[in-house]
Amino acid sequence: METALWSQNRLTRKLGVEYPIIQGPLGGFSSQRLTAAVSNFGGLGSFGAHGLTTSAIKEVIAEIRSLTSRPFAMNLWVSTEDRGARSSGKSEFERSLGPLAAHLAALGVTSPAYKPFAPIRFEDQARVLLDERVPVFSFIYGVPPAEILDECRARNIFTIGTATTPDEAAALSDFGVDAVVASGFEAGGHRGSFLRAAEDSLTGTLSLVPRIVDRIDIPVIAAGGIADARGVLAAIALGADAVQMGTVFLSSKDSGASAVHREAIRSGRAASTGLTKGFTGRLARGIRNRLMDDLNAEGVEILPYPLQRALVRHLAIAAEAAGQSELMPLWAGQSAGITVCQDAPEFLESLVAEISGPAALLARWNKNFRQKRSESKEKIITDEK
Ligand SMILES: Cc1cc2nc3c(=O)[nH]c(=O)nc-3n(C[C@H](O)[C@H](O)[C@H](O)COP(=O)(O)O)c2cc1C
Repeated sequence: METALWSQNRLTRKLGVEYPIIQGPLGGFSSQRLTAAVSNFGGLGSFGAHGLTTSAIKEVIAEIRSLTSRPFAMNLWVSTEDRGARSSGKSEFERSLGPLAAHLAALGVTSPAYKPFAPIRFEDQARVLLDERVPVFSFIYGVPPAEILDECRARNIFTIGTATTPDEAAALSDFGVDAVVASGFEAGGHRGSFLRAAEDSLTGTLSLVPRIVDRIDIPVIAAGGIADARGVLAAIALGADAVQMGTVFLSSKDSGASAVHREAIRSGRAASTGLTKGFTGRLARGIRNRLMDDLNAEGVEILPYPLQRALVRHLAIAAEAAGQSELMPLWAGQSAGITVCQDAPEFLESLVAEISGPAALLARWNKNFRQKRSESKEKIITDEK
């Protein structure tokens, strides 16, 4: 009874899930098993597919469907390249390779050869999601074209956009997206900003969520820095309809992260994270290490996304194989190490048990708070007239 009071809201009812808990997409580190495990538990598992070809995306969807009959989300990046990616040439490539050359040599790896840019098209990737009629289509870095959103509605595909500012949340809502992730500064991975520069869109979750809740009428999902019961309860108190957690699930045994990466997230080193464009060309958060410091150094030239990503990946693969965690991107948010998640269903089980009682009280309190707030807003408007 207590559980039903807090967990069933306008979002969970629309999604058809038991709990307002989303395992965030982990582009490059998602796994079909983790996605399905979270969905089977009654949350919403997500798979980050932005780096995959259309045929690989189709295979991933089929495998997730073989592991769960519950709703799950497939996630893409609306914008797949930055300005300058097409015109960037061999000399730019060599200048950006410079700071990595000593690390490659230390690992005994030859430098990557220059390859001209090969674009990935969001529209082609989205086509697969539409044809497969995935239950939920979540995205970051913008608003999909109207035809794609129309087709989602026609095919009963629930859409979730990502906002790093209230203006982005309003834009997503105006274009008819069904729900919005409010992604605070603490979050691991990329800042999905699309209206202003990511560097100017760095509000923390505690301030961002209520601002977005006050601004739009569609469901809001709080993300960034949430890793345990305290975080979930705080998000509910801020008015969020659900939470999305990434870093904590990245540390679980079923994520696509390597053992070296998972170990780093669980270690004391994870207490220090930073933002960098050096890993991919776009601003993102990871654990501070030698590679991040080297690439954040003044004067280092970073290629536009996704060229920098390909360059660093070459080093990362070798560093990972050699167990050299100082020389690979260690994606993680500020919540890294707050709690440990070894097995996702076990983690979720104890999370739900811990939050159920207080969450029910908070959900009730929040309803009253919203009611009072809208009455006082109406009063202000009437008094002003
Ligand atoms: C390694 C990693 C990869 C991520 N990839 C994506 C992605 O492809 N698309 C997306 O919408 N969010 C992505 N995220 C964001 C998460 O889904 C989630 O919103 C975020 O991690 C929540 O903040 P937290 O890390 O503090 O839990 C990624 C996060 C991490 C740590």
